[in-house]
Amino acid sequence: MARVLSCIQPTGEVHLGNYLGALRNWVSGQHNNDVFHGIVDLHALTITDTPGVLGQQTLQLAAILFAVGLDPQIATVFVQSHIPEHSQLGWIMECTVSFGELSRMTQFKDKSAKREADFVSAGLFTYPALQAADILLYDASEVPVGDDQRQHIEITRDIALRFNHRFGDTFVVPKAVTPPTGARVMDLQEPTNKMSKSGDGEAGIIYLLDDPASIVKKFKRAVTDSDNEVVFDRELKPGVSNLLEILGAVTNESPSALATTYTQYGKLKQDTGEAVAEMLRPIQTRYHELMADPAELSNLLALGKERASKVASATLARAHSAIGLYPSN
Ligand code: TYM
Repeated sequence: MARVLSCIQPTGEVHLGNYLGALRNWVSGQHNNDVFHGIVDLHALTITDTPGVLGQQTLQLAAILFAVGLDPQIATVFVQSHIPEHSQLGWIMECTVSFGELSRMTQFKDKSAKREADFVSAGLFTYPALQAADILLYDASEVPVGDDQRQHIEITRDIALRFNHRFGDTFVVPKAVTPPTGARVMDLQEPTNKMSKSGDGEAGIIYLLDDPASIVKKFKRAVTDSDNEVVFDRELKPGVSNLLEILGAVTNESPSALATTYTQYGKLKQDTGEAVAEMLRPIQTRYHELMADPAELSNLLALGKERASKVASATLARAHSAIGLYPSN
């Protein structure tokens, strides 16, 4: 049984990329592994400045995580800010990573460029150190994520190895696990960009809570490629390949095999839209049921906090002792 950890930020609405790239695999992994999944509200602070928003988004995200099928009896679902060890180990991680390494992170470069005229917080820059703390606190050997998180897991490995080398074996060195299909779901309107919470238009993003009619409509309007041939080739035909990849992820078939069964873009768009809408329907029903009882959601998060705290506090104590900080009595 592997120890697994992965997290999601409570910013914007959860979309199909989050689901196919990460959440769905968290659910399937919970039966064979010891899994921890965090709602990382402190990470969201790097770009949040409106009071009162994060708490509500945290509750909604908790409802989504249980609605997609995480079972609170076997999966530990917690809120990052409820476990102070994340911030505490985060500082130690900041002292274990270099300025140069952080400067090379593509997400920092992209996000800070997008926010050029805005406030670019130091937290946006040191973000990967906090993410390393999230992972290393739980002795996770596997981190199920979408493709865009690979660089963050790589830097976490480097940090863990460096700490272990300096202070003796303390942290488990984790590896990223990405799904064979759905690891990089692209925007339906701009299929060379990944589907993203900070995407420019709504039309290219399928939200988990979109109603079935809008889902089908968004797929109908998806940008495809100029000729009319249905082939799976991400480089030459990004639009069609994205649809094939999504349909493949939903139906558990290979995108290239699916390509041979279509001769028209229209039918492919229709089938993909319907398959996604059907997949999301029960999740949406369950989400609304869960949101009707926020007290119960709070109880589930309290249960997660209790279990996560035990592991996190033991790891932080181990790190302090490896460094040789003077113990309190
Ligand atoms: P976040 O909140 O942006 O995304 C959550 C998960 O969704 C995946 N994902 C995608 N997968 C496929 N296609 C897409 N278009 C797509 N967009 C997003 C992400 O890869 C991710 O797995 N930094 C992280 C949160 C984090 C974390 C961690 C993750 C903080 N601490 C520790 C793992 C372990 C983030 O912003 O994910």
